[in-house]
Amino acid sequence: MNPECLVIGDLNCDLIFNGLAGFPELGKEILSRDYDIVIGGSGGIFTAVLSRLGIKTSIISKVGNDNYSKFILDELQKSGADISRIIINENTKTGITVSLSYERNKSQISSLNLVKSLKADEICLKNLESIRHIHFSSYYMMDGLKPNYLNIIEKIKSAYKEITFSIDTNDDPDNVWEPSIYEIFKNVDILFLNKKEAIKISRETSVEEAINKLANYVKKVVIKLGREGYLAKINGKLYRGFCRNIDNKNFLDGTGSGDNFDAGFVFGFLKGFGIEKTLEFATYCAEKSIEYSGGFGSDEKFDEIRKVYKIN
Ligand SMILES: Nc1ncnc2c1ncn2[C@@H]1O[C@H](COP(=O)(O)OP(=O)(O)O)[C@@H](O)[C@H]1O
Ligand SMILES: [Mg+2]
Repeated sequence: MNPECLVIGDLNCDLIFNGLAGFPELGKEILSRDYDIVIGGSGGIFTAVLSRLGIKTSIISKVGNDNYSKFILDELQKSGADISRIIINENTKTGITVSLSYERNKSQISSLNLVKSLKADEICLKNLESIRHIHFSSYYMMDGLKPNYLNIIEKIKSAYKEITFSIDTNDDPDNVWEPSIYEIFKNVDILFLNKKEAIKISRETSVEEAINKLANYVKKVVIKLGREGYLAKINGKLYRGFCRNIDNKNFLDGTGSGDNFDAGFVFGFLKGFGIEKTLEFATYCAEKSIEYSGGFGSDEKFDEIRKVYKIN
């Protein structure tokens, strides 16, 4: 089966500590109840989740030739993803994020030099006949690609007119939030942000003002609000959704919940679910993900999603 979706973005290993006794302090040691090593990177989680939901997804990113990349490639393959476009770099280490996961928020330390170095001329834009949708993850992380996103989109659009695009900027580690990103927004179909990102990028003070501004550039904008759900403006109409699990029952780890939301949304979009069901499905995928350590989750999670939404 050929992939239907292509991700261009970040891919790494996540080392997740959950059940932490407190916040680390210089000169002290704290204990973690448990840890997990899982597939990470917003692009990596999106790729694995969407593939496991049933839409085969390919990812263009860079990994080293080490034990971490072997693990990542293996996990991606198990999810059903296509790994043939991943660039393996012999002399640099695979990226790692350490995530200190707390119930209300998380703190992360990343070393992602290889991912950041991905350049436009390393991306092969040929043989995209089977691709219906392209997702850009973690825009601000992708230093080597930043000057060329528009060019990449234009090249793809001129050769493959039907392909649609989404972007999730994620955080800007430099805290600059340059406005040139609006030029990219004008050329994508779906924009995913969380609350902080929406406010920073729009330079507005509320999510309502932010979504109204951003919706002037992108037809489908979703602002994820953590446990508060989401605010979306889709083709001019506002949608406000809430999580079912408002008291956070079974919460284990919030890593990747936003990427599960994005993957669920793109799944509904490509399956033609209709907007209300797409938003509800995305929320369900995101809510389920917080019950598991890491972004991908387990077979049990996907069995439950399949059962509730009657997906084969
Ligand atoms: N504590 C939580 N309880 C229930 N659902 C949550 C929780 N945190 C996140 N979610 C779900 O995950 C989605 C994305 O979370 P959010 O943290 O806003 O995005 P991101 O991971 O991109 O920062 C939310 O819209 C919600 O559906
Ligand atoms: Mg996010």
